[in-house]
Amino acid sequence: MVDRTDPKPTQQTASRRSFLKAGLMGGAAVAASAGVARAAGDPLITEVQDWSRYLGEGVDAAPYGKPSEFEANVVRRSVPWLTADPVSSINFTPIHELEGIITPNGLCFERHHGGTATIDPADHRLMINGLVDTPLVFTMEDLKRFPRENRVYFLECAANGGMEWKGSQLNGCQFTHGMIHCVVYTGVPLRYLLEEAGVKTTGKWLLAEGADASVMTRSIPMEKALDDCLVAFKMNGEALRAEQGYPLRLCVPGWEGNMWVKWLRRLEIGDKPWAQREETSKYTDLLADGKARRHTWVMDVKSVITSPSPQAPVTHGKGPLVISGLAWSGSGTIKRVDVTIDGGRTWQTARIDGPSLPKALHRFYLDINWDGSEMLLQSRAIDDQGLVQPTKNELRAARGGNSIYHNNGIQTWHVNNDGVVENVEVS
Ligand code: MTE
Ligand code: CO
Repeated sequence: MVDRTDPKPTQQTASRRSFLKAGLMGGAAVAASAGVARAAGDPLITEVQDWSRYLGEGVDAAPYGKPSEFEANVVRRSVPWLTADPVSSINFTPIHELEGIITPNGLCFERHHGGTATIDPADHRLMINGLVDTPLVFTMEDLKRFPRENRVYFLECAANGGMEWKGSQLNGCQFTHGMIHCVVYTGVPLRYLLEEAGVKTTGKWLLAEGADASVMTRSIPMEKALDDCLVAFKMNGEALRAEQGYPLRLCVPGWEGNMWVKWLRRLEIGDKPWAQREETSKYTDLLADGKARRHTWVMDVKSVITSPSPQAPVTHGKGPLVISGLAWSGSGTIKRVDVTIDGGRTWQTARIDGPSLPKALHRFYLDINWDGSEMLLQSRAIDDQGLVQPTKNELRAARGGNSIYHNNGIQTWHVNNDGVVENVEVS
């Protein structure tokens, strides 16, 4: 469908010829043809514009900066009919508008079961009790005296894509895949706090508890707690946002978002899991034989093309087209992402750009020369453990049709001749 060796440029400039001479085929050659000679008579070039004529705002106008007013549509969005009430609800990260791997703090999706708790850090306490030598209570000030680490991790709600289990539903990757964010956390490794309290040899499990009105509780195996869990107080360099658990949240890297308890106030050590609501009636997966999978903590290898996508159609017509997407795995790094533009008949290896960090988002690109014909876009991620993202049919064959959580099936976008994109299923 796309001939990558003949980008048919609109103009053969000297710089383009030297690009080709230097042997930079593929992406670079395609990109070089994207510049269009539209300068002649353009008033935006020939007339002095207001922004050049008048002085702008001074440095004191915005002590805490905001995005440009022209980016007002780059916001979290909710789907009101999904939940009964906004305090026990979810909104979605506008991943179709973002690039790179880091989610800006104000755009991180929110999931609350009892609304956002408002907690003065001076009043916040973290207790460790149960099977420990010394039960402890930490203030925020105490926690900030432990050695801290900075780590980039994605957080994905287990319900991300849950609406898509039986077929395509929601028209936009913000809604199909936007229960995810990826942030640099600063926090204290949980094991330092557990060492301070002295976990008894019988202590095999940990119950993390939130201070919000939902008093979220989840059981976490001690092995994970001692491995890479963080008790975080900063995200992307600044204090956690209230919505994300200010002043303290638990990070459980690579594992389902529900375990990342926000407004973290207590860690109880026990000898077995607690069987709380969020690990029995919720966050379990009903299989075809009527049995439910429990303790499905690790988030599976997954990817999605974020642009083009239903909310990010192709508006520039045929020619050079940047296909951009995200891939991630709760088991490690992403080794490869394949992209197809013909519904899986032929695949090309995408280019992973930017940092490749374990349990973090990865950004991939495929730079093509679109001939203007219909496309069925899909991406397929493979992680460093060799795990391959399945088709939706493969997923349903393994897990039946009753599930909501842990849908990591391959997403398809249909692009029509006008560049309009729709959520469809090709499995
Ligand atoms: N922690 C508390 N205390 N209360 C909650 O409602 N929701 C959980 C988890 N931790 C929740 C919580 C769920 S289901 C998810 S997916 C993540 O927080 C969402 O984190 P976020 O709001 O930072 O995106
Ligand atoms: Co969740």
